[in-house]
Amino acid sequence: MTEIRRGTLPEQTFYEQVGGEETFRRLVHRFYAGVAGDPELRAMYPEEDLGPAEERLRLFLIQYWGGPTTYGERRGHPRLRMRHMPFTVDRAAHDAWLRHMRAAVDELDLPPEQEQTLWNYLTYAAASMVNTPD
Ligand code: HEM
Repeated sequence: MTEIRRGTLPEQTFYEQVGGEETFRRLVHRFYAGVAGDPELRAMYPEEDLGPAEERLRLFLIQYWGGPTTYGERRGHPRLRMRHMPFTVDRAAHDAWLRHMRAAVDELDLPPEQEQTLWNYLTYAAASMVNTPD
């Protein structure tokens, strides 16, 4: 007899829908390649090695979208706006950050609806991180 399980399966998280860790690894790796090649934006990042910053952003996004909560275990509550206060996030920084993120999102080649969900969040979050007026 065929078991009818439709409707009983747990809903997939967005993290799972878009391809799990591999997708976020690609996204954030591509983003930081953009940062590395952008002298103005690069100058904002205090560490010589961008690897640890790349890992923090990757783990944060994975957690945000319903994946493993490693970010919280290592860093505690994100309090992202507060964590950005030491940096001058003005409109130029905001635009540069989003420009590199846009290129990274494009390379994922996600289905349009998923891409829109991800991009809406990133633009909203970037706007909320601005802490320095022009
Ligand atoms: C709007 C432009 C933005 C600029 C210029 C910017 C810049 C920075 C800089 C310089 C750091 C420190 C690097 C490090 O040591 O980790 C940082 C950390 C971080 N940023 Fe941003 N950021 C921006 C927007 C965002 C957005 C929109 C998000 C989330 C969607 C985000 C998530 C993070 C995370 C998770 C960290 C590490 C926090 C931690 O210490 O645990 N940032 N950012």
